Amino acid sequence: MSSRKRRPVIAGNWKMNMTPSQAKEFISELYDKVKGKRGCDIVVCVPAIDIPAVVKACAGKSIKVGAQNVHFEKSGAYTGEISADMLTDAGVKYVVIGHSERRQYFGETDDTVNKRTKAAVAAGLTAIVCVGEVLAEREAGITSEVVSRQVKLALLGLAAEDMSKIIIAYEPVWAIGTGKTATAEQAEEVCALIRNVIAEKYGKQTAKETIVQYGGSMNAKNAAELLAMENIDGGLIGGASLKAADFSVIVEAAQ
Ligand code: PGA
Repeated sequence: MSSRKRRPVIAGNWKMNMTPSQAKEFISELYDKVKGKRGCDIVVCVPAIDIPAVVKACAGKSIKVGAQNVHFEKSGAYTGEISADMLTDAGVKYVVIGHSERRQYFGETDDTVNKRTKAAVAAGLTAIVCVGEVLAEREAGITSEVVSRQVKLALLGLAAEDMSKIIIAYEPVWAIGTGKTATAEQAEEVCALIRNVIAEKYGKQTAKETIVQYGGSMNAKNAAELLAMENIDGGLIGGASLKAADFSVIVEAAQ
């Protein structure tokens, strides 16, 4: 399974950072550094309030816009929530689903991850579905079980055809924002496992075409080594995506 067949996706996850004005400035700074780098898809997943400013700033540029969450109902009495149709209408192409911070602080479950993924795909968004074990699970030797289960539950009811609109991001929770990156071998092992889970469910061809990202303290220094691994087709990057210089080095590493 050569990763050359898959176009890498380098996605920044800004989390709760940057006001709309800061976002606008940042995009012009980032674009200066990444324009002409056509070997990967470049995505910024921004706070909902920043979406209009960022979509405008990215118009006609090679940077695509993502959101950080989506509600699973089409519309209705869900105060504070945002639907998939609202996102697509605003010009959003990607959405992060089931990030560990949402699982940890906002009651996200495998069931709501599945519902959000279905809603996103139905609306034509590309879902970046996050999975990953916590430290205690890694230490207990149950990483494979935990991650396979999360992937299987996230994909319940989705068809092989939907996989072109789904990216799985392997993000070991102990590596997120901690500066402790998984080694390239550890990341590769779990990304390969994820591809196997997809192969079992949808067949080898679909598995071969599915994008599997690594996330968790990916930065300008370690990106090249991680992205060189056969089953790692890009990154979901938090901290380092807030610095245009660092993020552009990661984009360069994916060329
Ligand atoms: P980090 O975050 O790069 O700051 O570790 C990654 C993520 O949460 O997606």
